[in-house]
Amino acid sequence: MTTAKLADRSFALGKLNAKDRALIETAAASARNAYAPYSKFAVGSAVRTKSGRIYSGANLENASYGVGMCAEVAAITSANSAGDFNIEAIAVVGYPMNGDRSASAVVTPCGRCRQMILEASQVADTDIRVICGNGDLSEVRVYMISQLLPDGFGPKNLGIKV
Ligand code: THU
Repeated sequence: MTTAKLADRSFALGKLNAKDRALIETAAASARNAYAPYSKFAVGSAVRTKSGRIYSGANLENASYGVGMCAEVAAITSANSAGDFNIEAIAVVGYPMNGDRSASAVVTPCGRCRQMILEASQVADTDIRVICGNGDLSEVRVYMISQLLPDGFGPKNLGIKV
């Protein structure tokens, strides 16, 4: 993917539609609950389901570093735990806790989270929108999970109808 194409998808918060704006603002609020004493990198996430409900989460680290959980996992798990797993959009926001939020880079989901979003997209039979922001939401990028994880391996590859 070229830089120009990435830049084309990048715009200010005000250009988002109202529903996506509410979603990314919920993700940003959730980042304040990050438990990230090791990386000192706060991440918040929020998912919107087809019901219109929003579920959020923050990253949760651990002294055994590899045990840590991403914010997206928390948000996706929250929706599923409520019995509301038809996700249509997910937002993610992150920033270094000790840094200047306006200078922070847009956070896009890690590889494991992309795989989890792909699973949710096959469950919902929807190409999930992934709305990504930097620390002060001065930069926002919108992708589809099919762009972030093209040709991914999911339940369909196993012949499983989810
Ligand atoms: N992190 C997330 O929660 N989501 C992402 O998409 C990127 C990374 C967390 C994991 C870890 O707690 C911290 O950010 C630094 O990697």
